[in-house]
Amino acid sequence: MTDRLIVFDTTLRDGEQSPGASMTREEKIRIAKALERLQVDVIEAGFPTASVGDFEAVQAVARAVTESTVCGLARALERDIDRAGEALRGATTQTRIHTFIATSPIHMQHKLRMSEDQVVEQAVKAIRWARRYTDDVEFSPEDAGRSEFDFLCRVLEAVIAEGARTVNIPDTVGYNLPNQFGSLIYRLRERVPNADKAVFSVHCHNDLGLAVANSLAAIQNGARQVECTINGLGERAGNAALEEIVMAVRTRRDLFTCDSRLDTTQIVSCSRLVSTITGFPVQPNKAIVGANAFAHEAGIHQDGVLKSRETYEIMCAEDVGWKANRMVLGKHSGRNAFRARMDELGIAFGAEEELSRVFGLFKDLADKKHDIYDEDLQSLVTVAGMDKENESVQLVAIRVCSESGITPEANVTIAVDGRERRGTGTGSGPVDAVFRAIEGLVETRADLLLYSVNAITGGTDAQGEVTVRLEKGGRIVNGQGADTDIIIASAKAYINAINKLLLPLQRAHPQTGDI
Ligand code: KIV
Ligand code: ZN
Repeated sequence: MTDRLIVFDTTLRDGEQSPGASMTREEKIRIAKALERLQVDVIEAGFPTASVGDFEAVQAVARAVTESTVCGLARALERDIDRAGEALRGATTQTRIHTFIATSPIHMQHKLRMSEDQVVEQAVKAIRWARRYTDDVEFSPEDAGRSEFDFLCRVLEAVIAEGARTVNIPDTVGYNLPNQFGSLIYRLRERVPNADKAVFSVHCHNDLGLAVANSLAAIQNGARQVECTINGLGERAGNAALEEIVMAVRTRRDLFTCDSRLDTTQIVSCSRLVSTITGFPVQPNKAIVGANAFAHEAGIHQDGVLKSRETYEIMCAEDVGWKANRMVLGKHSGRNAFRARMDELGIAFGAEEELSRVFGLFKDLADKKHDIYDEDLQSLVTVAGMDKENESVQLVAIRVCSESGITPEANVTIAVDGRERRGTGTGSGPVDAVFRAIEGLVETRADLLLYSVNAITGGTDAQGEVTVRLEKGGRIVNGQGADTDIIIASAKAYINAINKLLLPLQRAHPQTGDI
């Protein structure tokens, strides 16, 4: 008998805590829909207390999703739990409240300044309070990976007795090694007297590159829920990568007594969507979803794979969604065909003008690019959403002169709050010249941390998707731009990042500050 492995995706919450990965409400809805197509069991949609925007995003996701359970995070505080409960009210699906408090000596002493007794009391009160909103309550002893075993057992017993249905063991700082973490799960399940009344879950961070290995060790020792993110997105080195855990369990059925219910053919499109929206590119050699994950370069390997796939492949590329990108639309496609494909991709348009705007962008692109793929459509929607929300600075026109032996020069026209400004910049290359010209016009004095270009699809007419990461005064933002001309895509990405820097930031982080 194979048990169910519950997949709890936290891309929209812990993933979003990655510096520069913040998403708009509409983007969160698109990702949530993609996660639902993937058949993820639980979607952690955000931390409603963090800001009004976060609250509204959780509310919108809870109203857009119909199959997966939608979860809101709350510290073990009545006011946080009330916010989560309110955000989830009116949901069109099942809801869960995930509440947490730290249990490691270092966190209790330095962050919470609370005694063990106080922490237990607060945890129990939080479960009781959360159950006013839903029976599906999850509890996490934050920094469990560095907590004292006996105390951890005490907290877990108390919260299970109070009605927590899921107890999640986070390795918050990614400190554990696989055998140690597996054994922790085994011992907890043995020692906590009411362990059989709750599902044991794990939540691993990747600081030592062990998040997936630790999660798998935990599953082999009885964990039946795994918390993870698409592409391993997350704070610092990230969270455990959903696609890697799910495919390891599915591929090595001989070593696991459980499996998820995921439709793995949705993995690649989901990965691309998250990467496009957050601007965090996927490295080519990344397992499962990297561009080279199924590419065989060595002649001997190619020969082997052609004779029998199993010689060098342990999974089918098609099983995770590779080669599934269909050429869908072109220059002659009409509005109805466009709308129908967008529907299939789970992209809904609120108003007819919104559809018209994106359809207009589609037509512009179809003039430049013969075949329009799903990835191009996803990118169009991202770009359309960005233009709408970040209107303060806009790219109007750009002219670049680049010739061998001559310093590249860029002439850029932008509109700032509707007023045009023109400027010139020179640089070591055309992109550098464009960025200098723009910076001369807006004077952000931000530092450029990252610049990367990805081809959205194959072919020389592919759109280049550019990510620009800027930092100013400790705040990090990511900007994205896409165009068949990568210089224009770069200018758009730079301006998108500047617009994000200009937005006021009022957002609390769930795991810092006093409780
Ligand atoms: O890493 C962590 O401990 C968390 C908790 C809030 C579960 O993200
Ligand atoms: Zn975390």
